[in-house]
Amino acid sequence: MGFMRALLAKKSENYAEASKWLHWLTAACIFFQLPTGPSLEYLPQGVIQNTFYDLHRSIGFVVLCLAVLRIAIRMFYGAPAAYGGLTPLERRASVFVHYALYVLIVLTPLLGWAATSAYPVKISVFWLFDLPPLAPANEALSKALFKAHEIAAFSIATLLVAHIGGALMHRFWKHDGVFARMVPARWR
Ligand code: HEM
Repeated sequence: MGFMRALLAKKSENYAEASKWLHWLTAACIFFQLPTGPSLEYLPQGVIQNTFYDLHRSIGFVVLCLAVLRIAIRMFYGAPAAYGGLTPLERRASVFVHYALYVLIVLTPLLGWAATSAYPVKISVFWLFDLPPLAPANEALSKALFKAHEIAAFSIATLLVAHIGGALMHRFWKHDGVFARMVPARWR
């Protein structure tokens, strides 16, 4: 966490508009990834299954690119300090969840990419170009990496329950300004 804290330390008055759009774009991608990932092996074999594998891999690559871009923007622009009205426990919990989500939206796609490389299968991004392999072909390695990918994805899902629960609580119960901080100006 110390490394993440140093990387994301810069403070600003608000979230950059670009960070807000990237946040909601990432959320849309992750809502596609979480149910499709575990379903892939159960889909009817053939065109449907292959298309969903390609989409899951391509959108995973998009999540990785959006995460890198978002962390870079945050490093230069900064992000607002935790909302003033939070109790120390709420503040610590939300900072932990945010940092953990940043780590996981980088780590989970990388693990999926490496596991698929080790399987070995080429990853085609939206049928436009192939990604270079991240790991050598090796069945045992692929299995271990897929397990790690699964655990990382499951951790995202678990953290999101708290994250989304917290966000909705602020919006509909506490009626404070926390939810609005992440809403792009043109949606307000
Ligand atoms: C689905 C994937 C999602 C991921 C990976 C994600 C990740 C994050 C991260 C890392 C932050 C911290 C931003 C920063 O301080 O730099 C954040 C903030 C926030 N997220 Fe999400 N989020 C997701 C979905 C959602 C959803 C569905 C909601 C609402 C229902 C939501 C509401 C918020 C709000 C309101 C903030 C701002 C909190 C504050 O101002 O302290 N997020 N999100």
